[in-house]
Amino acid sequence: MTIHPDDLQAAEARLRRLHQRIGGTAYGGDYNPEQWPREVWHEDAKLMQQAGVNLVTLAVFSWSRLETSDGVFDFGWLDEVMDLMHGHGIGVDLATPDAVPPAWLVEQHPDIMPERADGSIFGFGSRQHFDVSHPVYRAKSLALAEMMGERYSSHPALRMWHIGNEYGPASYGPWAEKAFRAWLQRKYASLEELNEAWSTAVWGQLYSDWTQVRVPAQPRTWSNPSRRLDFHRFTSDSMLEHFKAERDVIRRHSPDLPILTNFMRFYKTNDYWAWAAEEDAAALDIYPDPREEDAHIAAALNFDLMRSLRHGQPWMVMEQATGAVSQWSVNVSKLPGKMRLGSYQAIAQGADSILFFQWRQAKGGTERYHSAMVNHAGPNTRIFREVCGLGQELKAIGDLTGTRSTAKVAIVFDWDCWWALELGNSPRSDLNYAQEVLRFYRPLFDANITVDFVNANSDLSGYTLVIMPASYLLTDAAASRFENYVAGGGRLVVSYLSGIVDQDNTIRLGGYPGALRNVLGAWSEEMHPLAGDGEQVKLSMPDGGTSSASYWTEHLHAETAEVLASYSSGRLAGSPAVTRNSFGRGTALYLSARVDDGLLNQFLDDELLAAGVEPELKAPTGVQVRRRTGANADGIAKSFLMVLNHNDAPSSVDVLDGGTDRISGRAVKGSVELPANGVLILDETAE
Ligand code: GAL
Repeated sequence: MTIHPDDLQAAEARLRRLHQRIGGTAYGGDYNPEQWPREVWHEDAKLMQQAGVNLVTLAVFSWSRLETSDGVFDFGWLDEVMDLMHGHGIGVDLATPDAVPPAWLVEQHPDIMPERADGSIFGFGSRQHFDVSHPVYRAKSLALAEMMGERYSSHPALRMWHIGNEYGPASYGPWAEKAFRAWLQRKYASLEELNEAWSTAVWGQLYSDWTQVRVPAQPRTWSNPSRRLDFHRFTSDSMLEHFKAERDVIRRHSPDLPILTNFMRFYKTNDYWAWAAEEDAAALDIYPDPREEDAHIAAALNFDLMRSLRHGQPWMVMEQATGAVSQWSVNVSKLPGKMRLGSYQAIAQGADSILFFQWRQAKGGTERYHSAMVNHAGPNTRIFREVCGLGQELKAIGDLTGTRSTAKVAIVFDWDCWWALELGNSPRSDLNYAQEVLRFYRPLFDANITVDFVNANSDLSGYTLVIMPASYLLTDAAASRFENYVAGGGRLVVSYLSGIVDQDNTIRLGGYPGALRNVLGAWSEEMHPLAGDGEQVKLSMPDGGTSSASYWTEHLHAETAEVLASYSSGRLAGSPAVTRNSFGRGTALYLSARVDDGLLNQFLDDELLAAGVEPELKAPTGVQVRRRTGANADGIAKSFLMVLNHNDAPSSVDVLDGGTDRISGRAVKGSVELPANGVLILDETAE
């Protein structure tokens, strides 16, 4: 996905202005004053000042408080809160509350409620309860956005806009069906074309009139994969269309303020490449589970994805928890120091905003156990002290905002691949696309190699190494883009289940991986997933080394490619498993099997070496190192080396060139010991 340079520049100017006005890194969170009496608002404003808060998100779930019945509005309380925030020097990120159509609206139009694939209808009482294609829902949410834009765009507290909340889920209801059909009529020139693209000759599914084309509701057994892929695309597009409509309403009132919505971790429903291109910044809600030892690595992947969605532009942590969440069966709190560490991790990976859900912990409602900046016990708590501590520290690194990271390695992450790969009825229906990507991301994270994510439309010219984990769906154009990248001198690493289908989710014939056969110089005649969790086959290397593979194997033939590993046991004994092909000025490595971690690391190390990629700094396991450089929000050239100790014990690194530690203010050079959860922000440009 490429974003027009003018759009990037305009967004950058809006973000620069935001950070200048709030004085550096954004710090704060969702604030829901409508849940509290007025006295508490005043206490909140004072505590926010104490915590160093400079930005709060208002009105995300306030539709029923702003439009109390059809056409009856009450903005008085919001005016008062906006004024109060302004009086205390706190900026406002104002949300349009389209995630929560009020009970009166749903009573008037029950078909606003989204429908599941099995035809059952969601009940009222939660949120995100709308079919985005419903004309009244759309008209009413746009009308409210218009009123809010008009009323607040010149309010002195207003700093940015937040449209909706975590758009989703899909609806299979009558309005979605109508919109889906219209979407298909725009996409396919004729019904014949649709029949062809969806392979409706299979199982006699031929359509003879557009009225027969329906949403892929719960079928008798398995249903058409091309139709379901188009429905995924439609769902993302239809929600994006509504986001854009609201954004355009707001933009007319606030041309200079950032406008965005919030994304989620590993969220499959919406194609975030397409979404991010329509926003001023990517913004992520991130809730790593403290019970998972490596939660920071999956978080890191999502952070790098956010950084990549808008070509390296600073992004925002829109929501995170100070302690426990409330959506799992056991909600463990973050240990002391982990909230601070996670916040700096996001900053090290390009975020310029650290925001929480939420400011004050609710005493009622669904999320009353979800931690907040001010918990049930009040401000005299460990959590509030940590919140204040971080708020104070962030003030000292405001000059970091606007700087960026650069990467020579890219990993392909593509929603079309994700959707198509996980539709079932494949040789392995348990394959998890995000986990496949994580398998390749993890060793690079451990080695402190900065990684960008790209999709099939990205410009690859800045990368010396591109990795394609299970890039299942490739259009002809994408396949030739990757081929040209290699021909021009790039190094490509491809894993199994790449290039198998075309844009219609139909198989490319003539040997797998059809779309990449040429560049890989190898082809598979049959897929052989390994049965059972523990099944393994042995591999041998030309130098006599041995290893193993599990989960996935293929009957591969090397044409022009060199064989780097072959099977030495099992039904494929003697056949190649891993190959490398010289193609033009570059090379393409094919991992047709899930080789064990040791061998994967070895291949990746060789590729990194050959591609001239160096770690930011050599550091012990569990110590993450990133660098942010370039012009900051004030246009001053800076370079910051950030070192984060994710270990629960002290760890040391060698910072040979040294600099000033911006947290302690001390000059640092040579060996530095970081305590458990410790952070070093080395200003390499300090005088
Ligand atoms: C997010 C959501 C917030 C809050 C938070 C904590 O997904 O946007 O409103 O619910 O999770 O669970």
